[in-house]
Amino acid sequence: MTTNSPTEKPWADTPLAMIPTPVFVTKKHDMFTSGASHMCMVHNSILRGYNSIYHQAPHVAEADKADFIGYCLTWHKFLKSHADNEDTSLFVEMEKLLEDGAIFEESHKEHDAFMPGIAKFQEYLSSLGSPGEFSGVKLLEIMTAFQEPFEIHMRSEITTIANLAGHERAPVVGSAKEKSTQSTFDAREGKKLLMSGATDVMPFFLFNFDSSYEDGLWANWPPIPAPVRWGLINVAKFWHPGWWKFASCDAARRTIPLYAVPDSK
Ligand SMILES: [Fe+2]
Repeated sequence: MTTNSPTEKPWADTPLAMIPTPVFVTKKHDMFTSGASHMCMVHNSILRGYNSIYHQAPHVAEADKADFIGYCLTWHKFLKSHADNEDTSLFVEMEKLLEDGAIFEESHKEHDAFMPGIAKFQEYLSSLGSPGEFSGVKLLEIMTAFQEPFEIHMRSEITTIANLAGHERAPVVGSAKEKSTQSTFDAREGKKLLMSGATDVMPFFLFNFDSSYEDGLWANWPPIPAPVRWGLINVAKFWHPGWWKFASCDAARRTIPLYAVPDSK
């Protein structure tokens, strides 16, 4: 659903639709509903990134191809580091907390179903002899091959995490244990996201974050102090000045038309 698509041109909320956050849907605020909602906002940024690439790939001008390739490879780095962190850290910590090694069995299988396709995406872009060899048709062929298992996973993982609120060993809602566990998880995940790339992955996340989503419920999330946010955006613009024009949002996280998509007649 287009919430505030700025023009009649296709925008980054198709072909993969955004995922509603469990907090918005249920109005609950236990640690798993909140955690799943934060994960959901990261997933939605990854989905907007996918959609922005999908719509622009066939229209990239010769002069912009090198920058578009950089933008696409950053999307890959974002998704790969996100999935790797889940497999090696987040899921492991949640399994320990709930003393249950089975809760993410499906999520691991889902990762395995689309990660080979994601690897092909990266291999294709990294193996080009020159930016001029880039073919949007070829990239779309690779993307559509993993689109379905990718989308299924991005949605189902949110439900899986939100449903852990009903786990028999979930911390009691409102308890000191719940609060301290939640802040430990939030701090660790925030740090992991920043560490996955302060000059590429983190800005990619911010440049594909629609602050008006769900009536602006997430406008102040994540809680990055304004000067730090300003620094991240400007350092990213300095290091990669040509990449961010392909993003779905501007530096203030407002939706913008997709740069390379021609105006509809
Ligand atoms: Fe995830």
